[in-house]
Amino acid sequence: MSGEWLSAVKKGKSMNTIERVSTGVHGLDKLIEGGFPKGRSILVTGDPGTGKSIFCLQFLVEGLARGEKGVYVAADEEPSEIMAQGESMGWELEKYTANKELLILNVGAHLSAHSTPGKEKHIDVTRAVNDLAAHALRFEAKRLVLDPAGPFVLLRDTATRIQDQTRLLIKLLRTAIPTTNVLTSYAVPRTGEMTMHGIEEYLTAGVLVFKMLSKNGQLTRNLILEKMRCTDVKPAQHEFDIVKGEGIVLHAIP
Ligand SMILES: Nc1ncnc2c1ncn2[C@@H]1O[C@H](COP(=O)(O)OP(=O)(O)O)[C@@H](O)[C@H]1O
Ligand SMILES: [Mg+2]
Repeated sequence: MSGEWLSAVKKGKSMNTIERVSTGVHGLDKLIEGGFPKGRSILVTGDPGTGKSIFCLQFLVEGLARGEKGVYVAADEEPSEIMAQGESMGWELEKYTANKELLILNVGAHLSAHSTPGKEKHIDVTRAVNDLAAHALRFEAKRLVLDPAGPFVLLRDTATRIQDQTRLLIKLLRTAIPTTNVLTSYAVPRTGEMTMHGIEEYLTAGVLVFKMLSKNGQLTRNLILEKMRCTDVKPAQHEFDIVKGEGIVLHAIP
């Protein structure tokens, strides 16, 4: 058969049992059959201040408590700011970084972008992920966070290219790194701002949307479970709080 572009399921690979990775958010695991599918990428999307970065830290802290090393790749904030945020929540990040269980990296130092005068800048996604994979493998990380993931795929690029880059990023994260990944992105594309054109929502194994909603004249924090592959997940919206010492805490489901 000449249809090389189609490939069949490889023999001997059982897809029946999916290992789960605890999210660290009290109440969330039981909504998604025990946690995120192991080895996959989950997208957390939402407006600024909705709790995405706190979720990322909480996911890593949960792993650390279980002896799973974690890598946090920050793009919008300096590692020192991430540390300060974690410490303010009551998480002992300093202890974990000192013990070489938690690695906080800044994207600036690890992304390789090249530009030609007069042309748009492009990011070499393969090289960026390979660099990251080298770090994560050497570190024996089990959990990885890209917060946000946008800078891995775009500078000022065409929509098609961004989509191709995003597809490549998510594929490479699956094949080159054995970690379970949380990627964040901004919810609303605004003119002039970097977005991943929504394609990441289709490619990732799961999507959590964080949203502020008005209820009885007060703003509330909400988590919408938009998608979780291989998981019996009920479409629902869950109110939550951000609590010092605990992080994101879902309200009890009535
Ligand atoms: N130590 C803390 N205790 C309680 N709430 C906090 C603490 N630190 C931050 N927050 C809350 O979390 C919000 C920031 O969340 P963050 O995860 O940084 O949002 P995002 O990454 O989506 O922009 C703050 O605006 C504040 O409401
Ligand atoms: Mg953030």
